[in-house]
Amino acid sequence: MNRLVVVSNRVAVATDTKARAGGLAVALQDALQEHGGVWFGWSGKVGNRTASEPIITQVGNVTYATLDLSRRRYNEYYNGFANRSLWPLFHYRLDLTAFSKQNTSGYLEVNALFAEKLVPLLKANDLIWVHDYHLIPLGEQLQRLGVKRPMGFFLHTPFPALEILTALPGHRSLVEALCAYDVVGFQTENDLRAFLDYVIHEAGGGIMSNHLVHAFGQTLRVEIFPIGIDAEGFIKAGERAARSPKGKKICAHPGDRAWLVGVDRLDYSKGLVERFEAFQRLLETHPSIRGKVTMVQIAPPSRSEVPEYKDIRSNLEGLAGHINGLFGEFDWVPINYLNKSFDRQQLAGFYRASKVGLVTPLRDGMNLVAKEYVACQDPKDPGVLVLSRFAGAARELDAALIVNPFDFDGTAEAMARALKMPLAERKERWEAMMESIQVNTLTVWRDAFLAVLREAPFVV
Ligand code: UDP
Ligand code: G6P
Repeated sequence: MNRLVVVSNRVAVATDTKARAGGLAVALQDALQEHGGVWFGWSGKVGNRTASEPIITQVGNVTYATLDLSRRRYNEYYNGFANRSLWPLFHYRLDLTAFSKQNTSGYLEVNALFAEKLVPLLKANDLIWVHDYHLIPLGEQLQRLGVKRPMGFFLHTPFPALEILTALPGHRSLVEALCAYDVVGFQTENDLRAFLDYVIHEAGGGIMSNHLVHAFGQTLRVEIFPIGIDAEGFIKAGERAARSPKGKKICAHPGDRAWLVGVDRLDYSKGLVERFEAFQRLLETHPSIRGKVTMVQIAPPSRSEVPEYKDIRSNLEGLAGHINGLFGEFDWVPINYLNKSFDRQQLAGFYRASKVGLVTPLRDGMNLVAKEYVACQDPKDPGVLVLSRFAGAARELDAALIVNPFDFDGTAEAMARALKMPLAERKERWEAMMESIQVNTLTVWRDAFLAVLREAPFVV
């Protein structure tokens, strides 16, 4: 078996017991622990200077190699280009993008630096698998340094439509860099279609049979690999939730009140403002449920140094306070808004205890929380998932109550319907969703991608 070398900006070192919010870290940790290999990326630390060598930590069969970044590089590469240019752009928020030459060159500089520090760690026959928007140019940089091993790239976020992507200064060189990989994977058909649209209409490239694409003088294979979860792990965590001391406390808490739960990084793409507005609409239009339902919103702070994330945080605090002030009673708070992260077992408790799971992003690559919520339900009395049509997960979980998060009335009605749904319908919907979650697991996702990558290089 070839050794697997995973590269991503965010690395979740297994000895770091802090609960980690973010689908990429959660998924790769599960995927690598089973398979073994190397995980290379940023250490999560910012110092006066960039570390000259990565810190190596061995845990079981995984070797972690992580690099500290200097404050300047962190600002330009991570806060700047990755999270103020690419992230909003890839999530269709042109209004929130900020472009600067300095951040763009900081981004390229860190990609070149990662390539330089990774090369000495590589062995013959390694499979290199790069993840997400922070590291699009990494493959090209590795090739410049003479690396010829198969290289794959998976985009965890959406790939934006042509009209959106072309607003990025330098979009052509970014897509050219993406085409340097042997395999590029996307979450959904929509993302793949947007990429192919760019290849044909902007890059003058061509699409051949068998998922092969020719663009910028390179041939690559492009395919959809919808990411899954460790289904068995979450099913067990859901079962344990009712028994373990931590989970029991959470599960017993709602009493005879129904919980609607949301679990999201505090990010504008997650549609939290719109969700709170829809919940307010629910309380206005269905006065009989006041006092009988609580929305529990877990929202750990994310990318807190980026101005747009500071704004969303203060908007939400204001809105939660407003709704709680308007409807709350001395013995009932409508929104329980928690700005902190929880570990898997605790989350399983929240999922299991909640009659309704609210996953209503304005745009999301996949959204693993949607799948986790379903997997943690009690098969004899499952809750209902209210899911945005703009989450990648909506393709597979079409038995959820699918909503348009921009339509507050529609979302409020879906919440009301979910709260009243008869057991037979809940079971039927849940079973349909579980089938796809149990078939398309994280292992299936990883193995499908690696099987294609092993066939590289592709020629026409
Ligand atoms: N998560 C967590 N603790 C928290 C909140 C979230 O471990 O307090 C995890 C959650 O279980 C999920 C991931 O973070 O696996 C979020 O992934 P998702 O795809 O839903 O969204 P992302 O944050 O990647 O945009
Ligand atoms: C999303 C991105 C990941 C990122 C995660 C958490 O899932 O696709 O690449 O790791 O959010 O964000 P952070 O900036 O904390 O790594």
